[in-house]
Amino acid sequence: MHTVVMIPGDGIGPEVSRAARRIVDATGVPIEWVVEEAGAHMLERTGALVPESAYRAIETHRVALKGPITTPIGSGFKSVNVSLRQKYGLYANIRPVRSIGGRGAGVDLVIFRENTEDLYAGREIRVSDDEAHAVKVITRGASERIAAAAFAYAEAAGRKTVTAVHKANIMKLTDGLFLEAFRKVAASYPGIRAQEVIVDNMCMQLVMRPAAFDVIVTENLYGDILSDLAAGLVGGLGLVPGANVGERYAVFEAVHGSAPDIAGKGIANPVAITLSAAMMLDHLGERAAAEAVRKAVESAVADGSVATPDLGGSGDTEGMTDAIIAAMR
Ligand code: NAI
Ligand code: MG
Repeated sequence: MHTVVMIPGDGIGPEVSRAARRIVDATGVPIEWVVEEAGAHMLERTGALVPESAYRAIETHRVALKGPITTPIGSGFKSVNVSLRQKYGLYANIRPVRSIGGRGAGVDLVIFRENTEDLYAGREIRVSDDEAHAVKVITRGASERIAAAAFAYAEAAGRKTVTAVHKANIMKLTDGLFLEAFRKVAASYPGIRAQEVIVDNMCMQLVMRPAAFDVIVTENLYGDILSDLAAGLVGGLGLVPGANVGERYAVFEAVHGSAPDIAGKGIANPVAITLSAAMMLDHLGERAAAEAVRKAVESAVADGSVATPDLGGSGDTEGMTDAIIAAMR
């Protein structure tokens, strides 16, 4: 029996989390779900986006499946997502982007996004009424750690190339240090090709020849942006999963946010969080179940008759979920 913390989140979070839980339960892997509420509705109710009990649960059980949580823009609240990643040292944000059901032909890349520093360290100051500064923090330790995670994954998965994405031509010290760390780690993996691409060029390359990329390793901000860009290549945010992994804890969540534009309508695509749950099953050592979930998702998306509106269909969350469960049987 595994114990997993389930944080449904807000917006479409509860709808897609429920779907993922049904699908994981249908694999037959015994999981005890410890449900912890967090998100905008908890802020109204308790004054905190994440109640203490949710933190305690993560610390006790160490593995969580998390729905998205809305971050109020501009107000005093720091993003819960960023806070969780920093608090629990979830330094690697791993996002596999693959073409599913024929979308985005041949795309099969994995983004390793550094998850704890860069401009997301939250060090901003308003120096005057007319001026504000943000501090970009890059350390050798965090840069080597994410590069090592990317190369270790590439080696284990039999992948050929790791591409570092940077802007060291302009940010010579910060991105320069990131590249220095990347090169050092790359040197200990002679069997894997290491290449470096500047981030703006990378955006164009990804749009024009996405199938040319394999493993990508980058800083926090570039990784955030490239993830959504890459999601757009394979059918959108409704399809792309993610994992936030550290030494001690792992939190699995989709790349997408709370999608307020479609929340509560029952039409959110449950695939992204379901594939995140499959990554969680891998992490728990339940590889056969993880593979069964991925195969079932592939066939439900390829089938198309249950496609949700983001994929151009007129299906809904429940129909897609039922189809995935049916495909597993
Ligand atoms: P978003 O990812 O929520 O939505 C962007 C677009 O993609 C919207 O049109 C939405 O309808 C669509 N979309 C996203 N997920 C979908 C799904 N599963 N099925 C179908 N369509 C889907 O990005 P947005 O609107 O910029 O952010 C909304 C809120 O989410 C913000 O408060 C943001 O801070 C938060 N957020 C939270 C994240 C997390 O909890 N890890 C990650 C990203 C954003
Ligand atoms: Mg993002």
